[in-house]
Amino acid sequence: MTSTEHDIGNAAEFPVDSIRRVELNGRAYAIARNDHGFFAVRDTCPHQGARLSAGTLTGNTVSCKVGNLIYRRDKEVIQCPWHGWDFDLESGHSVFDETQRVATAKVKVKAGRVLVTT
Ligand code: FES
Repeated sequence: MTSTEHDIGNAAEFPVDSIRRVELNGRAYAIARNDHGFFAVRDTCPHQGARLSAGTLTGNTVSCKVGNLIYRRDKEVIQCPWHGWDFDLESGHSVFDETQRVATAKVKVKAGRVLVTT
């Protein structure tokens, strides 16, 4: 299968901590930008099909001992707007259920342009 590189715009037009929906070859992706860069995940939640691009960027909370929670990985997780499932932006895996995943696509910035490979 051949891959295609899509130019989706000027990197400066994607604010940090934002999510935007784009359609590439008939498939929708949620393009997220955080302090670490750009990420692309398919824009359909595997639970009941909500658009992840309408969700929020968040982190996750882990417990190191009873009553002590640590919030980490701020803005590295995309949260579905309907029922709050969380997905790692890099891998697409659900934070709480490794059997659930959204597909991802590679994103890079070259000469100020955002390029998504599908
Ligand atoms: S549709 Fe995404 S969590 Fe339910």
